[in-house]
This record gives sequence, C-alpha cells and structure tokens, in this order.
Amino acid sequence: MKVSLTGIKPTGIPHIGNYLGAIKPALQLSETCEARYFIADYHALNSCKDPAAIRAMTLEIAAAWLASGLDPGRVLFYKQSLVPQTFELLTMLLAFTPKGLMNRAHAYKALLQANSEAGRDPDDGVNMGLFTYPVLMAADILLFDTDFVPVGNDQFQHVEMAVDIAQSFNFTYGSQCFKLPQPIATEYTKTLLGLDGRKMSKSYNNTIPMFAPEKELRKLVMRIVTNSQTVEEPKDPEQCTVFSLYRHFATPEQTEALRRRYLAGGMGYGQAKQELFEVMNFALKPLRERYNELMAHPERISAVLEEGSAKARALAAHKIAFLRAVIGVD
Ligand code: TRP
Repeated sequence: MKVSLTGIKPTGIPHIGNYLGAIKPALQLSETCEARYFIADYHALNSCKDPAAIRAMTLEIAAAWLASGLDPGRVLFYKQSLVPQTFELLTMLLAFTPKGLMNRAHAYKALLQANSEAGRDPDDGVNMGLFTYPVLMAADILLFDTDFVPVGNDQFQHVEMAVDIAQSFNFTYGSQCFKLPQPIATEYTKTLLGLDGRKMSKSYNNTIPMFAPEKELRKLVMRIVTNSQTVEEPKDPEQCTVFSLYRHFATPEQTEALRRRYLAGGMGYGQAKQELFEVMNFALKPLRERYNELMAHPERISAVLEEGSAKARALAAHKIAFLRAVIGVD
C-alpha cells in the first residue's frame, strides 16, 4: 500500500475552507493509503513563541481532525515534537541541502521582498528555523517512506525540494535510501469563497469557522455578500457566493433543485441563505458535537497523540538505524 503523509500546522480552529480543502481530501486519501498525519509543532515555533498558544492550538487542531473523522486506529496520528528521529534526520539532510536551494524558497523570498520594500535589512526577522523550514519538512516526509503528500499549492515547492534533497542523498549512497515523494493537490483550495466573495482566508477575515455554534453559523451565513437583485429576478447561480458554498455541502439533487430555483426567479437571497445554513448545519453538527466533546476532555486528545507518536517513533527508529549505517555513524 502507498504511504500518504501530511503535516498540520497548529493554527487554531480551522475554517470550512481548511476543512474542504485540506482535511476532507486527506481523510479521503487515507482510505486507500497507509496514512501518516502529524501536528507540525516545531514548524510553528519559528513564528510563535507563546507556549500557552502552542499548547492550545495543538489541542484544537488535533481535535478538529479527530472530529472530522480521522480514525487513529487506521491513520498514524502523531506529534512531530514527540518523534525526535525527525531532528536527527534533519541534521543528516542539512549536509545534502545546497544553501542556494533554500535561497529560492518562495516563502523566504517573500519575506526578503517585504523587508526590502519596507526599507529594512533584507534578513530582518528571518530566523534559521524559517530559512531551513523546507529541510525540516523534507525530514518529516522522508523519514516515513512517503509516496504521496496531500498539500495546498503553496506547499508544492517544499515537496519538490524534499525530492531534490532525497535525490542528492540517493546519488551519494544509492537509491534504496529514500523514496521520492509526490505532492498531491488538494481540491478546493482555490475555489472556496468567503463571506465577502473573495477566497476564504483568515487574512481576509471572511471565514466561517468549522465549529461555530448553530446561532453564529446562521448569522455568518446571513452576512454573505450578494448582489442587489430583487426577489422576482432570475439569478445566475454561477455568480453567487451562497450557491458556490451550497454545492459543497448539499447532495447533487439538492444542488440541482436550488440551481433551478435561482434560474426561475421568485426566490430571494434570504431564502437561498436559509437553505445554505440548513445543509451546512446538517453536515457540520455531528462534527461540532464531537469537537466540543473532545475539547471538554483534552487528556483524551493528548493520549491519542501520545499513542500515535509511540508507534511513529518505532517506525522512525528503524529508518534512522538504517541511515546511520549508510552514512557511517553506526
Ligand atoms: N509546511 C506545511 C504547511 O505550512 C506543514 C508541513 C510541515 C507539512 N511538514 C510537512 C506538510 C510535511 C506536508 C508534509 O502547511
């Protein structure tokens, strides 16, 4: 069976764009792959130095994935920081990573660019963790003989860098050392629209949180921006944010029925929003309940992560022993 692996940055409660664009596709992939999904907490340290926030965000994101249906009996679910072999592999890989490769990373280049535009020193606020971020990510991936990495488009370059680093290592010691991973585009990242009709994103402040209580969910849906057509006018479903969200939560039959009501005229946006609220609430309610239940018992979440991490360490120890012999530090 092929191995799928992805890292989840602890960033607090996900919104429905994260759910449809990352969580759901990764869980779907886990049905046909041996899945290894982990909380990338050391990746968060580069930008977050608040221990309470790291702890809280780790619990929230782990609870979100579990509430979304991640079955820790089938998916290896662990915390990066509890698998220290990751950091041993990072040290090995650093010796195979040209500095110039890191110079070309989009995320790093964007920071330099922002600094130079603001008239600051180009390296202002850039720590080495951030600069070597793609190498740590390569260690995450290569440690577990990964075939597929489900990620958003912004992470493709990082996975390609992991391939470059693995190839350099394999060139030196033989191709049995590392499998070459392949990024898999997760589906809805580009298309999911937020409350204001732009792409749903925390930075636009236009998101719908996954576990918003029923009342708040309804309020947010009612706030979605629509055009000013009257109730009587026929409406174009393809130009409507409400409809674009509806189709992600409704059945194909429901979607077709609402499409016809748009085109026929006689239905106002208030009614369309009510329909959207209902399908969303129907889909999200069981997840919300599981999430609240888990967050009321954080020790259960930690226990799941600890158990998964123990299994991950055993796998990783095996790989590291092999690699140590390969490079001559056994
Ligand atoms: N860099 C990824 C992000 O920002 C998270 C991540 C860390 C990751 N390690 C990984 C993703 C390994 C895939 C594989 O979202």
